[in-house]
Amino acid sequence: MPATPATPRLPFFDGPELPLFLAPMAGFTDYAFRELCKAYGADVMVTEFVMANKFLDERSEEKAWRMVDFTPGQRPMGVQIFGGEPDKMAEAADRIADRVQPDFIDINYGCPAPKVVNNCAGSSLLRDPCRLQGVAEAVVRRVTDRLPVTAKIRIGWDKASINAVEVSRRLENVGIEAVAVHGRTKEQGYSGDADWDVIEAVADALRIPVIGNGSIRTVDDVRRIRTAGKVQGLMVGRRALGNPFLFREIKHALLTGKDLPPPTLEERWEVMLRYGRVLLAHREQDPWDRINWMRPRLKAFARNFPGSKNLRRKLESVQTLEELQRVKG
Ligand SMILES: Cc1cc2nc3c(=O)[nH]c(=O)nc-3n(C[C@H](O)[C@H](O)[C@H](O)COP(=O)(O)O)c2cc1C
Repeated sequence: MPATPATPRLPFFDGPELPLFLAPMAGFTDYAFRELCKAYGADVMVTEFVMANKFLDERSEEKAWRMVDFTPGQRPMGVQIFGGEPDKMAEAADRIADRVQPDFIDINYGCPAPKVVNNCAGSSLLRDPCRLQGVAEAVVRRVTDRLPVTAKIRIGWDKASINAVEVSRRLENVGIEAVAVHGRTKEQGYSGDADWDVIEAVADALRIPVIGNGSIRTVDDVRRIRTAGKVQGLMVGRRALGNPFLFREIKHALLTGKDLPPPTLEERWEVMLRYGRVLLAHREQDPWDRINWMRPRLKAFARNFPGSKNLRRKLESVQTLEELQRVKG
């Protein structure tokens, strides 16, 4: 009897087109924003990063669980964690696998923020590949019977120490099942262009899928990457903020070879208000409905509106969704 083929663990890599990932972006790619991106064509999404220890402490776990909340419609979803202690990372992954049952666990090895780096986590582990490997190995060992584990790295700590190929090989060797490579160094932060030559070198060197990330701004960038390279997934970051339509535009171009017209102003307003409503509903545990805390997220939507300077100024003072609706007129 022929053997039944095993179910793929990350099936989105088996489709005819490159899957589009929404990059995790803390403070922006919340539950409500992910709803929108999914509706506009993002294939795979990852929660913003949460420190592993937060799941292990009674005082912080409630908030941590809220941060990794998602709906079945948002699947396939990964939950991203960070930390430098293998046992705590494994324990957090174990609890997440049991309670949230995401499609995969993703380990963050890219965050450049001092409070993360000084805790020997995020991108600081790029300087210590043995420890980086130890963290991955502990997590994989603990949850691999239930879930695949992926990782997100930068190309290196600085220009003089680009080591993405070495680091990714180590990750592959301990059972990581896909690697997202952000083509900047830690030193670069978020400035300058991503180095796609290094991303492609990683894709060449590995057997597991590599997802390319960094400086994807337009449909043309996607066309170029798709023809030139071997990456098996594309991850879009800042250009998607306030602009979930980008996923629709990329999808359409990949399918038809043609460009879609940009969204109308009416659609953009509608989407911004819908975003505000879903976000507030998801935060109903808060005893107030003021929108101060979501102001930066809303401003991202107003970035390219006609008269956007004026609109952004108005957004500085609106306090409720009703007021926002009135700004729209
Ligand atoms: C505000 C902000 C928050 C971010 N938070 C995370 C995060 O939680 N986890 C992560 O792996 N990367 C995070 N990133 C990095 C992005 O996922 C992505 O790698 C980076 O923005 C490069 O892609 P881009 O050039 O398309 O923006 C963040 C980036 C920004 C701008």
